[in-house]
Amino acid sequence: MQAVKLRDNIYWVGAIDWNLRNFHGYETGRGSTYNAYLIIDEHITLIDTVKAEFASEMIERIESVVPVDKIEYIISNHVEPDHSGAIPEMIKLNPDVTVLTSFPSGDKGLRMYYGDMNTKPMRSGESFSTGRYTFNFVTTPMVHWPDNMVTYLAEEKILFSNDAFGEHYATLERFDTGLDESILFYEVEKYYANIVQPYSQQVRGVMKIVDTLDISMIAPSHGVIWRDKVDKIIAKYKEMSEETLTDRAVVVYDTMWKSTEKIAKAIADGFERKGIKVKLFDLKINHESNIIVDVMKSKYIAVGSPTLNNTMMPNVAKFLTYMQGLTLKNKKYVAFGSYGWGGQSIALVDRCLEEMKLTRFADMIRVQYRPDKETLDSVREKIAGALGDTLI
Ligand code: FEO
Repeated sequence: MQAVKLRDNIYWVGAIDWNLRNFHGYETGRGSTYNAYLIIDEHITLIDTVKAEFASEMIERIESVVPVDKIEYIISNHVEPDHSGAIPEMIKLNPDVTVLTSFPSGDKGLRMYYGDMNTKPMRSGESFSTGRYTFNFVTTPMVHWPDNMVTYLAEEKILFSNDAFGEHYATLERFDTGLDESILFYEVEKYYANIVQPYSQQVRGVMKIVDTLDISMIAPSHGVIWRDKVDKIIAKYKEMSEETLTDRAVVVYDTMWKSTEKIAKAIADGFERKGIKVKLFDLKINHESNIIVDVMKSKYIAVGSPTLNNTMMPNVAKFLTYMQGLTLKNKKYVAFGSYGWGGQSIALVDRCLEEMKLTRFADMIRVQYRPDKETLDSVREKIAGALGDTLI
């Protein structure tokens, strides 16, 4: 396996995970990459590593350029094991290597994961020279863990951004050239919705720092290296971090005997009557990490569940738990569902959405057994009527 040249003396030596389909609960239908970068200088340096099981792939790529025991420093921008997992193998092959990591969280985190090692903790604003190159460190807490930092190489105007500006996308291409842009930016958006979005406030702070840097290339830790579309990915991040909502709705549900689905469609019709575009997602078919991309951007959400054994359907509970963790804000919601006798699920869904600090725009919709035409008409009218009151 070969290294890929970014510039003279700078190489991609990461790994491609073609078969990744789940990244801590995020469905990764297009796989991912773990990007590591090799810098050839007076002091040879590696920026980030890969997941532990991909260590041999990374080492093979490094050795296509230089023997691995020539590496003196590893810059670890992030402790999460998809980027630090191969550090122990690097130390085994090269016990004198020193790991540059953020102070204090990176230093503490690496030791908690892997035990004692030679580290050089770096504070935000500090820099480190490898000879002809100087690396500047900026800590970016919570983008995506408390320890995160980005590394800027001023001489080459390259930002090694770790999780920021990345996407889970395994391709034959290492650069942002020659790829279908709609797929590429969908994966950027999906990554943001599922990984970065809860920390949008911190991202807005990072974007202010990015604005002060002269950047000709962004080399993240997942997906493609931004070379042609640097301005576009920065603009996209600014847009997403603003958390602006559109007049759209998402209707998410599970259904047992299609009654809750009928209500879902009537609710969708109610939205459409008010000119609000709406998407429907049956949770038996759609993974929550795909749905959340639309939820992130939409002003309205309706969540429905039939009652099963006195509670909501497990798929709905799974979706709500996932959504709760992503702390989506400023949405208006309605809970709905069909039931046989107890009907507890609808109030449980309603309470769950209320606990997420979303705003109920219509009272919950509960229908016993099958909704008839008259009931469905009243659902449409109720939604349209409630929206009439809330639309500005
Ligand atoms: Fe790609 Fe937060 O690790």
